Amino acid sequence: MKHEIIEKNIGLMVILIILVIAVGGLVEIVPLMFQAQTITAAPGVKPYPALQLAGRDIFIREGCVGCHSQMIRTLASETQRYGPYSVAGESVYDRPFLWGSKRTGPDLARVGGRYSDDWHRVHLKNPRNVVPESNMPGYPWLTASLLDPKLIEKKMRTLAWMGHPYTDADFAGVKDALTGQTELDALIAYLQGLGVKSPDATTEAQP
Ligand code: HEC
Repeated sequence: MKHEIIEKNIGLMVILIILVIAVGGLVEIVPLMFQAQTITAAPGVKPYPALQLAGRDIFIREGCVGCHSQMIRTLASETQRYGPYSVAGESVYDRPFLWGSKRTGPDLARVGGRYSDDWHRVHLKNPRNVVPESNMPGYPWLTASLLDPKLIEKKMRTLAWMGHPYTDADFAGVKDALTGQTELDALIAYLQGLGVKSPDATTEAQP
């Protein structure tokens, strides 16, 4: 029996298993790279402005994604709590994406505009000051460092090279946008921008 040859030859079996999984993976993943719905920005979704882009880096550095997802699923319990469900076109300018898979804290995909900047300022320094039962860590050091406009401009140029539609005016404005701003300012700008430009969220926000 031919199958016996495979069963008695573990090296061959390993190779064949990898082959089967690889083909299965490719069939599922490759079409997504070309589907308009997954690679075209949803209406109103633009590349991150300099300050928000800097804040996104802080969000990644501090590991916020380890406790907060940015992906509202298509379930009533989720949309009632967090707002319209996430669509692929909202994440085209997220490199890497921060959908996350762990929710120790709430989903943040539509947290933009939910609280004031001042609330975030107090909350990020010590969450217990506004939410007494919170187990989120405080990030008091974020006020201590200023941002580096050169670094962010370089990053924006790299993203532009990868297809993000930044213009020369965007590059020229980085210095003004970032000078004198702390890491905390950038992180708050990033949080306040989350989800507010998504098509559904915009319609909902209108009176
Ligand atoms: C150890 C897990 C943990 C980490 C790490 C964490 N958080 Fe939280 N976060 C929570 C929990 C729990 C809550 C809910 C209680 C509260 O509001 O403090 C929360 C709430 C929030 C809220 C309010 C959300 C809402 O809709 O009410 C924001 C905004 C937030 N976190 C931002 C951040 C940012 C930014 C970082 C990284 C600098 C971060 N969190 C890191 C656990 C975490």
